Amino acid sequence: MCGIVGGVTNKDITTLLLEGLNHLEYRGYDSSGLIVLSKNNIFDRARSVGKVKNLEDNLKARDNKIKGNIGIAHTRWATHGEPTINNAHPHISMNSVSLVHNGIIENYVELKNDQLTKGYTFASETDTEVIAHAIDFAMKSCSTLISSVQLAIKSFSGSYGLGIISSKYPDQIIAARKGSPLVIGVGVNGNYIASDQMALLSVTKEFIFLEEGDIAEIKIDKITIYDLDGNLVDRPIKTSNLKPGQTDLGNYDHFMQKEIFEQPQAIRDTLESRITNDSVLISAFGDKAEEIVSRIKQVQIIACGTSYNAGLVAKYWLEDIAKIPCNVEVASEYRYRHPILLNNTLFITLSQSGETADTVEALKTAKKINNNISTLCITNSAESSLTRLSDLIFLTHAGPEIGVASTKSFTTQLVSLALLTCSIGKIKQVINKKQEREIVDGLKRLPGLINEALLQETQIKKLAIRFKTKNSALFLGRGTMHAIAMEGALKLKEISYIHAEAYPAGELKHGPIALIDKDMPVIAIAPNDELLEKLKSNLQEVKSRGSQMIVFEDENSKVQELEAMEVIPITSNLGRITAPIIFTIPLQLLSYHVALIKETDVDKPRNLAKSVTVE
Ligand code: M6R
Repeated sequence: MCGIVGGVTNKDITTLLLEGLNHLEYRGYDSSGLIVLSKNNIFDRARSVGKVKNLEDNLKARDNKIKGNIGIAHTRWATHGEPTINNAHPHISMNSVSLVHNGIIENYVELKNDQLTKGYTFASETDTEVIAHAIDFAMKSCSTLISSVQLAIKSFSGSYGLGIISSKYPDQIIAARKGSPLVIGVGVNGNYIASDQMALLSVTKEFIFLEEGDIAEIKIDKITIYDLDGNLVDRPIKTSNLKPGQTDLGNYDHFMQKEIFEQPQAIRDTLESRITNDSVLISAFGDKAEEIVSRIKQVQIIACGTSYNAGLVAKYWLEDIAKIPCNVEVASEYRYRHPILLNNTLFITLSQSGETADTVEALKTAKKINNNISTLCITNSAESSLTRLSDLIFLTHAGPEIGVASTKSFTTQLVSLALLTCSIGKIKQVINKKQEREIVDGLKRLPGLINEALLQETQIKKLAIRFKTKNSALFLGRGTMHAIAMEGALKLKEISYIHAEAYPAGELKHGPIALIDKDMPVIAIAPNDELLEKLKSNLQEVKSRGSQMIVFEDENSKVQELEAMEVIPITSNLGRITAPIIFTIPLQLLSYHVALIKETDVDKPRNLAKSVTVE
């Protein structure tokens, strides 16, 4: 949700700013901009509406003359104010302060009214511009840029990740974070800031992860950090294990495609060191995991979007296999109601980014409601707000996911939740050694099974053509496959803009069946499980209403025998844990190929951003 990059070096910074923005574009792409301090400490700024490519073209049209050793840049996901040039960052106050912002200043109207009385004028409709003016005003009474920022920040409520430069202090960038991620890249010929390490991998692998409330003064050869209370603090420098190539497209056309095909490896990486030949290592969830799990009596899962769908699958597993009660809720609802949280609850947050604002706030809310709960976060981001706030941490090891539509983060979350289910079941002594071995065997087979499911791509590609003229689609499944149907519908909506809904197949007759006609494709998932015969009856009900049906089946489900359905065998004889993971694959491929046919921007679908760090 907005990407920030900046740096102070002994070379020209513009190329790095653009390169960084390209890596951060997944965070938003409504507009972008950059600003440098040129030779005589004068601000030189360029901004464009739309993708970073437009900013690059804009700079080329100006003969790439914007150059300087210190600069900041931003790619925007609009919250306050439409995506226009005037609303694009960086914003400037009085030719003295310029800044880029990720987050929302909630009291900006009040601040704006006050600043208008002080003679400030506003060039944008954003909430951000008040920050620039507040810092400029504070500079009148403070002797350094950092003390001005420290003073100004006291008046803001809301969230911010900030990169700030000033024409009066041309040797430094000030970085500040509260509720939005920000890292400092420690370099040899300079120091940098970014919303995400990926933006800076070409210049450094050494990072300082700012903590909530930190404010840093960053010079070419010196970094000084203060905490929320103004105390000088020492934050550790960590070496990133990300490789620059990991974030490249390689031979693929889209990141989503690459990430779908990376799933076998991502799952291998997630399992590595977490299982032995025949057992799950409970310690993979942290040193205190065994002690915490032996105490818990129920589980509450909180997440958004795709991560929420993974949580829904886990509810079936946790109750069915580990015999522990489990509730799952979207974070944006949970955080604003007054839920009852019993002692001995394991409160799990699921999040690819670890930064989703609603999920982070839901966790904080839960801790306020009952401080006796234990918390676990399952995330793909080691250095994130959620990891800092949780007792137990489990990293999914999916590797960087750039496509806005989640794919490998979903299947690796499921693998992590399967390991958790098995661990809880073991500690509660409700699964025996044989059952544990079966689960481990199933998990180990996943990479091979996914490769087999991926072989159906050619057939799925042909089916995708049917969706070219469709406006709606219905996804059906029962049990865990209802959650997988929800994930399939979410994928189709996100990247092809076709309205899609998922229903438990048995619920159809209570209303949605009225929607069925020849223009409504129905996609069903038919594993060979105890609900198969019930599902077949539901499919007959749909078929007799004239729908065009596509069924992804287990070979032994024998849906083939029913007429007028396009049936694609995906796999055979899967267990309760492996089946939902494998049936996800054809749905990912289907939405990807429909999006290609609809010629949408697969990796950067309209109105979306990868990491939703605002409400
Ligand atoms: O980073 P998170 O897993 O917390 O993100 C949650 C959702 O924003 C995310 O899953 C979103 O729904 C994806 N675009 C789905 O493909």
